[in-house]
Amino acid sequence: MNEKYRAGFVAASFPRRPEGPAPYFRREFTVGRRPERATLHVTALGIVEPYLNGTRVGDEALSPGWTSYRHRLPVSAHDVTDLVEPGTNALGAIVGEGWAVGRIGFESLTKPGENADRFHYTDRPALFLQLELDYGDHTETIRTDEAFTCASGAVVGHSLYDGETYDARLEPEGWSTAGFDDSGWSPAEPFDWDPAALIPRAAEPIRRVEELSPVAVTTSPSGRTIVDFGQNISGRVRLTTTGRAGQTVTIRHAEILTDGELNVRSLRRAEAVDRYTLRGGGPETWEPRFTFHGFRYAEIDGPFDEVAAVVVHSDMRRTGWFDCSDQRVGKLHANTVWSMRDNFVGVPTDCPQRDERMGWTGDINAFGPTAAFLYDVRGVLGSWLDDLAAEQRELGYVPFVVPDALHSPCEPTALWADAAVSLPWALYQEYGDAGILRRAYPSMTGFVRDVEARLDADGLWSSGFQFGDWLDPDAPADNAAAAKTDRYLVANAYLARTTRELAETAKILGEAADADHFSALADRVRAAFRREYTTPGGRLAGETATAYSLAIAFGLLDPVQERKAGDRLAALVTDAGYRISTGFAGTPHVLPALTRTGHLEEAYRMLLQTGRPSFLYPVTMGATTIWERWDALLPDGTMHPAEMTSFNHYALGASVHWLHTTVGGLTPIEPGYGRMRIAPRPGIGLTHASLRHLTVHGEVTVSWKTADGRITVEAAIPPGTEAEVVLPLHPEALETVISPGAHIWTYDLPEGYDPLHRYTLTTPIRTLLSDTGVWEAVKRVFAEHLPHLPVEHAAKASPDTTLRTVLDRLPDVPDALESAFVNALKETPSC
Ligand code: BGC
Repeated sequence: MNEKYRAGFVAASFPRRPEGPAPYFRREFTVGRRPERATLHVTALGIVEPYLNGTRVGDEALSPGWTSYRHRLPVSAHDVTDLVEPGTNALGAIVGEGWAVGRIGFESLTKPGENADRFHYTDRPALFLQLELDYGDHTETIRTDEAFTCASGAVVGHSLYDGETYDARLEPEGWSTAGFDDSGWSPAEPFDWDPAALIPRAAEPIRRVEELSPVAVTTSPSGRTIVDFGQNISGRVRLTTTGRAGQTVTIRHAEILTDGELNVRSLRRAEAVDRYTLRGGGPETWEPRFTFHGFRYAEIDGPFDEVAAVVVHSDMRRTGWFDCSDQRVGKLHANTVWSMRDNFVGVPTDCPQRDERMGWTGDINAFGPTAAFLYDVRGVLGSWLDDLAAEQRELGYVPFVVPDALHSPCEPTALWADAAVSLPWALYQEYGDAGILRRAYPSMTGFVRDVEARLDADGLWSSGFQFGDWLDPDAPADNAAAAKTDRYLVANAYLARTTRELAETAKILGEAADADHFSALADRVRAAFRREYTTPGGRLAGETATAYSLAIAFGLLDPVQERKAGDRLAALVTDAGYRISTGFAGTPHVLPALTRTGHLEEAYRMLLQTGRPSFLYPVTMGATTIWERWDALLPDGTMHPAEMTSFNHYALGASVHWLHTTVGGLTPIEPGYGRMRIAPRPGIGLTHASLRHLTVHGEVTVSWKTADGRITVEAAIPPGTEAEVVLPLHPEALETVISPGAHIWTYDLPEGYDPLHRYTLTTPIRTLLSDTGVWEAVKRVFAEHLPHLPVEHAAKASPDTTLRTVLDRLPDVPDALESAFVNALKETPSC
């Protein structure tokens, strides 16, 4: 029980029905002299906006955000010393339904019932305020109790999914100032909530972080006014309007347009409509405060003078940046940053727009290391992991979503539930703070022991539900779990990783007996994986890019197997035309696995592919965020037919971490980057890359640039750190250790190194086939000089055929032919 919080909660006494108006609460109090310090502690079951003497207190949005309220309900503290006046004061708050009361989830689709998706915590909003007036010699406290009165006001509808309705004519003028006549208001009712759940807010609050002006305001073919903000965001629209009293402005939101009209299919059952009814008599500015939407476009019905989009999310500190010479890759990275921002609205969510927006464990598990590079996530993810642990303790399992709004018993699953282990581990790698592991330890061990008890006689995880390689692009549109890769192969590969991470954790925490136990378990799982899924030569059951990538990236193979597995992976990736053939489980590991096994070139080709589905395809289609499916928008501009298609899911954006670790080349050797490795790997298509990372020790910068046959590498590391530097493409393969400060190296590139002309006569023809521009040019040479050769056919039959082998097989090769091929290969790459 937290001694700090002595107030109780209050709720509205006026009759409420689901989706009724938001209660306004108020009370007056008298102060003899100005206190030395006044602090207002605020929270709610719902979304709270506190006021003191007519002034909005603090700048939090959607406060207190969403946590596992029964276990952990954060209380914000605001310094209000300057707002308290000698004499009569008024304290007030509006409480919207938010996550505690309103509709969250989609359970009612399968469990019909009027309110199946509502009332996850309570059936009405409740308020907690504690105002501490510190006079130096004594303290007085004003608490939420029956001295508060309540009434409804202008906030008529306040659903997170469906939007806000505000009737300005109903706003009780001056309701949060002293002297307001509240004789018509009813006394607030005490409301019971376990005070042990109250904790001081530790994570950054949600705030209104940025405003975007429209990039276009157009009239749609059907005559509607559509505002394009140029960026898919989470937030809301603020507008200024002038009109007569009672006139309503309606704002609809969408992520995409189809045929110039709003397409709301990606919102599923979330209405996302805000409505403002004018007071009349002058310009009125309004922005909803009890809802948020995922949108780029707004359709506005009604008069407006000015309009802006307000970006709303957890106000974290940015810590990671990456840029490079290919703007499309830069855009892929920028889109990932936006999807992270849009999905860190208190809880790390899957998506911000549809009837979901939940803390899906798998999504943040995939994205965790990327998130920790880009922003300081100790607050938000630390809080979320505490929620996960609290719910796991109560339920006996890790729910699929945290906080658990689905309420269905869950079996342990790979990539989803094992976030309990891999997310604290990822945070430990980033921040080097063993306290993170200590806090999560019971949760980590709880998850692994649960799975351990389910292993079969062969030591394999071979039963129970698995999401598997979720959203494999080759899975049917209506069954995202039907991936090419065996779901238990995925499960056992992930289990090998989590048991190893847990064994390491136990060692770090000095839990010797556990360290032995989990090391032995990790060995057993790895051995079982190899027995069941690999051949001694390095083939994998299933022959999919996900299977190979996981086995390689998680270190499950011996060196001989790994080398051959790498070659197989490279062949699979090449045969797929460098397109993506993997889902949530595999995709983040493909580029690292290719790199680790010496296939950097294939990794770069994959990065730069633009065909469907690929990393850059969405960029070519105008994406401003990462999509749930790489081809959420089809080449003809229509939306993917699957019901589950969002344009703002960060999970697959986990792939960009390879830009940080490999193209930029920064990885920690010691958790927290006290010792780090700087080993950038320039490759085809790029002439420059740079990254900046604010580690717990300070700023690290790395950049490289190639020009005129020379390369320049720069690195700077902060005091108290040390870096092992591997200089790329260096004639003597120079490796060196650097001390704090800035360093620069310039040297000649290897003879003939030309990153922009990516193909040679010895490039396999199947690689050329995936690059339409180059391949068309090559075909023209064939047609002109060798019309009798069925080259496409030959290339497919023998995958390693190159132009060189074709030329070598010809009896007489005119010089003109060889140089025609060389010129064709210089065609601007279009892949
Ligand atoms: C979510 C995903 C999530 C998945 C698991 C989806 O509806 O949006 O990102 O991980 O469900 O079932």
